Amino acid sequence: MTNGDRGNGIVMGFTLSAIFWLIVGLLVGLWLAAEMVFPALNFAPWLAFGRLRVVHTNGLTYGFAVAGIFACSFYMLEKLTRAPLAFPALARLQLWLFNIAIALAALSLFAGMNTSKEYAELEWPLDIVVVVLWVMFAVNVMGTLIRRREKQMYISLWFLIACVVTVAVVYILNNLEVPVNLTKSYSAYAGVNDANVQWWFGHNAVGAVFTFPILAMFYYFLPRSTGLPIYSHRLSIIAFWSLVFGYLWTGAHHLMFTPLPEWIQTVGLAFSIFLIAPSWGSVVNGYYTLSGNWDKMKSNYLTKFFVFGITFYGLQTVQGPTQALRTLTSYFHYTEWVIGHVHMGTMGWVTMIISASMYFMTAKIAGREVHSEKLANLHFWLILLGQLLFTVTLWIAGIVQGAMWKAVNPDGSLMYSFLDGVAAMYPFWEIRLFAGFLYFAGIAVFAYNLLMTARPRPLAT
Ligand code: HEM
Ligand code: HEM
Repeated sequence: MTNGDRGNGIVMGFTLSAIFWLIVGLLVGLWLAAEMVFPALNFAPWLAFGRLRVVHTNGLTYGFAVAGIFACSFYMLEKLTRAPLAFPALARLQLWLFNIAIALAALSLFAGMNTSKEYAELEWPLDIVVVVLWVMFAVNVMGTLIRRREKQMYISLWFLIACVVTVAVVYILNNLEVPVNLTKSYSAYAGVNDANVQWWFGHNAVGAVFTFPILAMFYYFLPRSTGLPIYSHRLSIIAFWSLVFGYLWTGAHHLMFTPLPEWIQTVGLAFSIFLIAPSWGSVVNGYYTLSGNWDKMKSNYLTKFFVFGITFYGLQTVQGPTQALRTLTSYFHYTEWVIGHVHMGTMGWVTMIISASMYFMTAKIAGREVHSEKLANLHFWLILLGQLLFTVTLWIAGIVQGAMWKAVNPDGSLMYSFLDGVAAMYPFWEIRLFAGFLYFAGIAVFAYNLLMTARPRPLAT
C-alpha cells in the first residue's frame, strides 16, 4: 500500500464518519423541532429539550463539521503540498479516537453531564481527549507543511493553519476549569469575565470551525471542480489576513446590554461591522472566478453548490454584523431570528460546501464519476428548499416575537403576556418541522449517493 492510498483511506474514513454524525445530529434536530410543536415528546429526562439540544449542536458541530474538516484538510494538504501525509498512522489513530470521543460526548450529554457553557458543554475528561485529538491533527498538518514539495502556499493552506491555531487557543482558554469529580467541574473564571471569555470562544469557534476551513474548501474545490483558476490570489490573501485579525475582537456582540463594560461591547460591535469587508472579499472572489463562465451552473453539477454556498455566506456576513447593532440586537436577541441566522449559515453555507467537497473527493478517490448526477441535483434542491423555508420562516417568527415582546398599551403595561408570544410561534414551528424533513430527505439522498460512489469496485473477471 502506498502513502497516497493510506491518505485516501483516512480521508474516506473521516468522510463516512461525518456522514454518520450528520444523520444522527439531524435526527436529533428533527426530534427537537417536533418537541417544540408537541411538548409531550419530552417524556423522559434524557429526551428533554435541554439535553437533546446540546446533542444536536455538538453532534453537528464536532461530529459532522469537524470530521468533514479533517477529511477535506487531509485531502487538500496532500494535493497542495504535493507531499504524502507526514504521519498516516497517527491520522488513523485520530480517526478511531475521534469516533469514540464523539460517541462518549453524545452519551455524556444525553446523561445530562454539562458544563453549561454553550458549544463548550463537554466535561473536563472529554476536553482532554479533544485537546489530544487536536494535537494529533496539528502534528500532521504542520508536519506535512514542513515537508512540502510545493513552495507556494495556496490560500487554502493559510485558512487551514488559522483553523488549527485558533481552535487550539480558544478551546483551551475557555475550558480552563476546576474539576470537582470525574463528571463535574467549575469554570476557572467568574461572573462577567466568564461570560466574556465564553463568547470570545463562542464567536471564534464560529470563525475557526464554520468559516476558515470552509473557505479553505471553497478556494480549493471550486477551481478544482470547475477547472477555472481563482480570480485573484492577492485578494484572497488580503481577505484572509483582515478576516483573522477582525474575528478575534467580535465575541462581545453576543453580550450586548449585559453587565460587560460598555466599551468592550462597542469594540465587538465595531469589529462586527468591519468583518463585512473581508468576508465579501471572498464572496466577490468566488463570483469573479465564474465570470464569463456562468454556464457551468448548468453543465457542472457541483458549481451550484459552491455558488449558493458562498451566497449564503455573503448573506450571513451581512445579517450577522447588522444584528450586532444595538437597535437591532435589542429587538432580535433571544428571538427565533437568531435561530434563523444560525441555520442559514450551517444548513446553507457549511453543509453545502462540505457536501460538494465530499462528492468531488469521493469520486476522485474511487476513480469513477459520481454515482448519479440526477440524485446530486435532487439533493441540492431538497436542501436548498428545506433551508430557505426553515430560515425565512424563523426570521418572520423573530420579527413577530420581538414585536409582541415590545408592544405596550397606552398606560405603559405590556400588551402581550410571555405565553401569548409562545402561542404565536406554533405555526412557525410547524413549518420549521416540515422544512427540517425536506432538508433531511436531501441529506438522505446525499448519503446514499456518496456511499454508492464510494462502494468498492467489483473485481474484474
Ligand atoms: C461577519 C460575520 C458574522 C457576524 C458579525 C455575526 C454576528 C452574530 C451575532 C451578533 C450573533 C448574536 C445574535 C444574538 O444572540 O442576538 C450571532 C449568532 C450566531 N452566529 Fe453569527 N455572525 C457572523 C457570521 C456567522 C457565520 C458565517 C456563521 C456560521 C454558521 C454564524 C453562526 C452563528 C451562530 C451559531 C450563532 C448563535 C450563537 C448562540 O448560540 O447564541 N455566524 N452572529
Ligand atoms: C433537519 C435540519 C435541522 C433541524 C430540524 C434543526 C433543528 C434545530 C432546533 C429545533 C434547534 C433549537 C432551537 C431553539 O433553541 O429554539 C437548533 C439549534 C441549533 N442547530 Fe439545528 N437543526 C437542523 C440542522 C442543523 C445543522 C445542519 C447544523 C450545523 C451544522 C445545526 C446547528 C445548530 C446550532 C449551532 C444550534 C444552536 C443555535 C443557537 O443557540 O442560537 N442545525 N436546531
